[in-house]
Amino acid sequence: MQQKYVDDTSEEFLRLGNLQETAVNDSHTLRNKLFTSAAFQKAKSELLSVTANAAKSARGIRGETSPEIRADYLKELAALGKMKGRDPFFSYLSTGLGSGPYMELLDGSVKMDLITGIGINFFGHSHPAFMEEILEGLTSDVMQGNLQPGFESEEIIRTILSHVGPKSRLKHGWLLGSGTMANETALKIIRQKKHPATRLFAFADCFAGRSTAMQEVTDNPKYREGQPTYNEVTHLPFYDPALGLEKSLAATLAAMNESLANSPGKYAGMMVELVQGEGGIRWAPREWYVGVFEAAKKANLALWDDEVQTFGRLETLFAYQHFGLEDYFDVVTVGKLLHACMALYTEDMNPRAGLVAGTFTGSFAALRTGRRILEMLTSDGYYGKDGKISNLSNHFKHGIEKLKSGTCAGLIGEIRVIGGMVGFGVLGQTMDDTKKFLMRLFENGVVAFYAGHDPYVVRCLPPFGVMTKAYIDVALEVIEITLLQLKS
Ligand SMILES: Cc1ncc(COP(=O)(O)O)c(C=O)c1O
Repeated sequence: MQQKYVDDTSEEFLRLGNLQETAVNDSHTLRNKLFTSAAFQKAKSELLSVTANAAKSARGIRGETSPEIRADYLKELAALGKMKGRDPFFSYLSTGLGSGPYMELLDGSVKMDLITGIGINFFGHSHPAFMEEILEGLTSDVMQGNLQPGFESEEIIRTILSHVGPKSRLKHGWLLGSGTMANETALKIIRQKKHPATRLFAFADCFAGRSTAMQEVTDNPKYREGQPTYNEVTHLPFYDPALGLEKSLAATLAAMNESLANSPGKYAGMMVELVQGEGGIRWAPREWYVGVFEAAKKANLALWDDEVQTFGRLETLFAYQHFGLEDYFDVVTVGKLLHACMALYTEDMNPRAGLVAGTFTGSFAALRTGRRILEMLTSDGYYGKDGKISNLSNHFKHGIEKLKSGTCAGLIGEIRVIGGMVGFGVLGQTMDDTKKFLMRLFENGVVAFYAGHDPYVVRCLPPFGVMTKAYIDVALEVIEITLLQLKS
C-alpha cells in the first residue's frame, strides 16, 4: 500500500495537558534540585526535541524497508514464537518509536494502531508528555512496591480519588500489578466483608482476567480448558436488546432470584462490566442496570464494577458516570490506559491488614505517566456530550455506517460503538472471516483485534487521545480497501 501521510493534523497530539498543582512538596529535596537544575532541563529538552524529530518520520502508514529486512524480521518473530511456544497473532514486533496513532515495527514498516495493546496506548506512541515523565523519573529506581512506595504512588491514588465524583462512595485506592490482580483484590475484599458468603454473580460473556479465580468469573469455557472450576460464580443473562428492557430485566432478575433462593446466604457480590469489551462491545441501558443493582442491593450483595477496559474511554472518566450509576458501587477496578492498575473501594469495604499486598505496584515511569494521563484526560476537553471522545466516536460510527450503506454494502454487519470502544462485524461475522479481515487489514497498515462470538466483531480501542477526524478517515479508507479486496 502507498505511503500515506496525514501531516495536516499532526501537531494536534503534541498538546501536553495542563499540569495541576500537586500536594507533594519536594522543593527541599535533592531530587527536586536535580530536576529543576538548568543542566537537567537543558538535557531534557534536547532529548525531547531529538525524540520528537525522530518520531516525526513515523507519521503515516508505510511498508517494510526491504524484502531482505522483512525476511530477517519474520525470522525474529518465528524465534519469538518458538521461545513462547506459540506463534504471535500478528507479525508484530514494535521498535517502541511511533508518532500519534502510528507505530514503527522492526521491519521498518509503520502501522496505524487502532487496538493499542488492547487498550493501553490511548495517547498513541512516543507522546512527548510521557517521554517527559520517563525522563523525570530517570534517576529513580525502576519499580515501586507496597513496602517502599515513591511519592508517585501517593499522587496517582490521590488524583484518581479526586475524580470519583461527589455521589460515589469510593474512598480508598490500592495499586496492583495488573487488571487481573486488581480484580482478585476486588473479589477478596468482597468475600472478607461478606464472610461466610463467597459466591459471585457475573454476567454472560463477561471477562475478568486469567488467574484461577478470574478465569471462573470470565464467561468463556475456552479460557479455562483443563482447569477446575469451584462452582463459585453464577453467570446471569446480560441485557438482550432483542428482548427489550422489560423482558430482559425480568429474565435476569428471575435467574438471580432463583440462585439466591437455592443458595441462601451464599452470595457475596456481583461483578459487572458496564460495557463488555472482550464480550463484543455490549452494554445495557441505565434502567436495566438500575433494576438489577437495586435487586442486588436488596439481597445485600456488594457491587463491583470492572472498569479495567472501559476506564477513561467513554464520555466520562469512569464508565459509571456515563451511565449515572455513581452511588451503586462498593468496589471499582481500573487498569489498561491508566498504565497502572487499581482497586478502589469504600470505607466500609476496607479490608483488614494482611489481605492485600504484593511486591510491585508499578514502575516509576508508569506511575508518573498514569498521574499525567489523569491530568490530561480531565483537563483537555475529552469528556462530555460535545467532548473530543464523543466527537471522534460519532465520526467513526458514522463512517462505518456510511461504508455499510455504500461501497461496503453486504460486507459490514452489526455496528456497536460507544465512546472510544468500536466494534463492527465483517463478512459472515464468524471467527474465520473476522480473522481473515484482521490479517489483511494488518497487511494494509492498520492494527485492530476481535471481540465477542457468534457474531464476532472487529474491535478497536483507538488512541483517541491523539486522534483527529482526519486520522479516522485514513482508518476508514483502509477498512474500505480491505473489505473490497476480500470481496473480490
Ligand atoms: C474487563 C477486564 N477486566 C480485567 C482484565 C484483565 O486485565 P489484565 O490483562 O491487565 O490482567 C481485562 C483485560 O483485558 C479486561 O478487559
